[in-house]
Amino acid sequence: MRILASLAVAVLTLASLAGHSQEPAAPPLAPKAQLAAPQVPPMGWNSWNYFAGRVDDKGIRAAADQLVSTGMKDAGYVYVNIDDTWQGERDASGVLHANAKFPDMKALADYVHSKGLKIGIYSSPGSKTCGGYAGSLGHEEQDAQMYADWGIDYLKYDLCSFREDVMAKEAPNDKAARMRLMIAAYDKMGKALKATGRPIVYSLCQYGWDAVWEWAPALGGNLWRTTGDITPNWDRIYSIVSQQAGLESYAGPGHWNDPDMLEVGNGKLTLAENRTHFSMWAMLAAPLLAGNDLPNMKPEVKSILTNRDVIAIDQDALGKQGSRTYSDGEVEVWTRPLSGEAMAVAIVAVGDSRYATHPFHLSLAKLGLHGPQSGKDLWTGKPITLTDNQPIEIESHDVLLVRIDAPK
Ligand code: GLA
Repeated sequence: MRILASLAVAVLTLASLAGHSQEPAAPPLAPKAQLAAPQVPPMGWNSWNYFAGRVDDKGIRAAADQLVSTGMKDAGYVYVNIDDTWQGERDASGVLHANAKFPDMKALADYVHSKGLKIGIYSSPGSKTCGGYAGSLGHEEQDAQMYADWGIDYLKYDLCSFREDVMAKEAPNDKAARMRLMIAAYDKMGKALKATGRPIVYSLCQYGWDAVWEWAPALGGNLWRTTGDITPNWDRIYSIVSQQAGLESYAGPGHWNDPDMLEVGNGKLTLAENRTHFSMWAMLAAPLLAGNDLPNMKPEVKSILTNRDVIAIDQDALGKQGSRTYSDGEVEVWTRPLSGEAMAVAIVAVGDSRYATHPFHLSLAKLGLHGPQSGKDLWTGKPITLTDNQPIEIESHDVLLVRIDAPK
């Protein structure tokens, strides 16, 4: 966007130098390409990670009810997002109808809104979604308008069959051309959403291809997946975390790297793994889209997802994503600058075999800090002092997450 803006300025300047300044004023530069511009990472719930193809109208209403009754809404979770498998057939005029699982989308959106929540939906630039349901290819404007008419607040747009339908077909031997086709498809839907005039958060899902973080904000992307799919196991979650190191400069208010939706409470993740997963998404300024079975959520899972101190790290107004500051053996130390000159530090035991005879020693100097630091341990809720060379023992896959309000 900035490049486009400077090009436009350069063109205008050249035009006036060439004596064309008497021509009618050029149209104003396009407003910053943000569709809804949530200034903090979006928070909510998405149906895919737990329910996948079993999502239906009843389940979405139940999720909305649960967000309210569990206190998650009060903690900031507002989007209720329907993922894949809601689509039925297109009629003769190209209008896509929901399938039998969703008898009345407008009524469902009204219901979700009546709870003070927002509603999201899912499509693909291809003819088919990843689950094989109807995508938006050739119907982008029509679909965007229909979402707006239903009252949709959020769209996840998932590459899926666009790869075979268009990229492979039109440019089988030219990777750069395939990437340009992909970018154009995301641009097309970005424009279609914008043309509806309704603020709709635009979530790009194309697994991080072609350095999406470099081009997504300019075409209205509010968040973009940086990797392939998450699964509820430590190795996958840790691999995703590792792939975020180096992307921090691309995130900022209104446009976020998306390491995928949360698996907190899913699969066989231990409590330590759930805590670390949630802590790291907060350190990464990641969208917090819970993906668990809300009606059957265990109290310990709820207390992780609603930890206000950790959520405050994620939602910090400065909007700076954290970085991996250093690692030492199996322990990684991540830091995140926060508003008011505060700082968050996450010390993570990423390996499988931590043992107490060889504690990790924290180096404050490597964090740019000098002398004892008073902070709050965000998982015990208690004050903590970090000192240089302090031995710290953290169980395998667990985390020590500390907020330091006045780092020295
Ligand atoms: C892809 C996405 C997932 C989910 C499924 C649905 O795999 O990455 O998040 O939306 O499609 O089919």
